[in-house]
Amino acid sequence: MHLHKFEKIWLAFGIIALIIFLSVVGVSAFHQGHTPSGGQMTIDSEKVNETKPFNEPGLQQKEDGSYEVVMVALTFGYKPGKVTVPVGEEVTFTITSEDVVHSFSIVGTNVNMMAVPGQINHKTHTFKETGTYLVICNEYCGNGHHFMSTEIEVVE
Ligand code: CUA
Repeated sequence: MHLHKFEKIWLAFGIIALIIFLSVVGVSAFHQGHTPSGGQMTIDSEKVNETKPFNEPGLQQKEDGSYEVVMVALTFGYKPGKVTVPVGEEVTFTITSEDVVHSFSIVGTNVNMMAVPGQINHKTHTFKETGTYLVICNEYCGNGHHFMSTEIEVVE
């Protein structure tokens, strides 16, 4: 009888310890999810098409005269399909994904960034020469991954 009682106490203690442990893990996971480090900008990936600036993807000239190209990655392509930018000007590329992880990688440049659902990433580049630049996806994203590309036309 005595042993049985002790077993019950130990069992109860074990369960309480487990509950405490799980709550601590749960709370810290929750915290990380809601305060991303590095001040990254987040977006609701379900509402990309309605969220500024992704509701109007493409080239935009900002108030200070600089250029921004807003792009959405999706299986298996980019929105908009093709974009034209001026040569010799600083262009900031702003990208997110509306489904799975892709990348936005401009061949022959150092622009190679991840397109992550829920996140907004930026990279600035100045094209020194006119021409057509190929954009490819470097993150495996499914059957159509190898065909996922677009072009950037750099003009005078
Ligand atoms: Cu998108 Cu690979």
